[in-house]
Amino acid sequence: MKHRVLILVLLSFITFQCKQKQVKGKFSFAKKETSEKLQASKSINLENKGVGPIDSVVISEEINAEMAERGRALYDQKCRACHKVGSTFIGPPPNGILERRTPEWVMNMIINPEEMLQKDSLAKALFIEFNGQLMTNQQVTAEEARTILEYFRTLDH
Ligand code: HEC
Repeated sequence: MKHRVLILVLLSFITFQCKQKQVKGKFSFAKKETSEKLQASKSINLENKGVGPIDSVVISEEINAEMAERGRALYDQKCRACHKVGSTFIGPPPNGILERRTPEWVMNMIINPEEMLQKDSLAKALFIEFNGQLMTNQQVTAEEARTILEYFRTLDH
């Protein structure tokens, strides 16, 4: 009888230890994933122009308010389903984007997301960070994408 109790105690002790290990393992994995997640959307790359039709964009110092207003209307109509000003939603927030990306990269991402997600290293890293959510093509012209970019410049950082 004494032996049986001892074995039982031993067994439950071993099981407990195993469970603890499992929990620890899971936890450190989750932590690693989170730190990797922070990288792509917060990373700064002011050289990459992306893949697509836009290879040069001129940005004047002053914001063109009329253009930004047209961009805001387009953004509300075509982008708000997935993007939220000021916080992460299905995709990253557009605030301060020109501090992190070139204007060419941003416009190529808006106009040509399929190819960007296939070929551009930064877009691919974002795709992983956003759990494989696709930035879909909203059939935006280059001229329209430029107005959205102007709108992004008016947002608080
Ligand atoms: C169906 C959801 C969806 C829609 C609609 C959408 N996006 Fe996105 N967007 C995403 C996701 C998700 C990402 C991150 C990359 C990925 O996972 O494909 C992204 C990434 C981006 C990026 C890169 C952001 C960064 O911080 O580097 C820009 C810029 C962008 N989107 C602009 C737009 C604009 C402008 C529109 C509207 C014309 C739009 N998106 C519409 C889902 C969407």
